[in-house]
Amino acid sequence: MALLPILTAPDPRLKKVSAPVKAVDATVRTLMDDMLETMYQAPGIGLAAPQVGVLKRVIVLDLAREGEAPQPLKFANPEIVWVSDDDVTYNEGCLSVPEHYADVARPAACRVRYLDENNQQREIAAEGLLATCLQHEIDHLDGILFIDHLTALKRNIILRKLLKAKKTAAEAAM
Ligand code: NI
Repeated sequence: MALLPILTAPDPRLKKVSAPVKAVDATVRTLMDDMLETMYQAPGIGLAAPQVGVLKRVIVLDLAREGEAPQPLKFANPEIVWVSDDDVTYNEGCLSVPEHYADVARPAACRVRYLDENNQQREIAAEGLLATCLQHEIDHLDGILFIDHLTALKRNIILRKLLKAKKTAAEAAM
């Protein structure tokens, strides 16, 4: 397993639409495991492949609480096939938008069709935090960040701060 560098906004690679995997083979399984290791290290509860610069439709999640056994979830080509009419609002964050959080409203429940790590097609019914996280991670595969759900004003304030932080870090490294 290997730790992968996590891209942070603004970065053009985070705005790209990722391609489906042809099949979940050994290469994709390694990517899933590397993404989980990277996510645990960060630490975070979800990670999408484009966040590590791989433009493939692969996401991983683990919503286990501190002290609980790990519950890694791996999805290839996840596709939302149903969403509930009612919304729920969570204060979201993202490893690619470090140190910024904002309320985002999304459908409270959803169903997602996907390929598991053995290339078997499955469907999962999700509600609560799992439903929100799945939608957040699947958004990444279409180049959408949680800040894209905010008003342009709020989004631009966050992007300006992120850009400034990047410049400061680059200057400190010189
Ligand atoms: Ni994210």
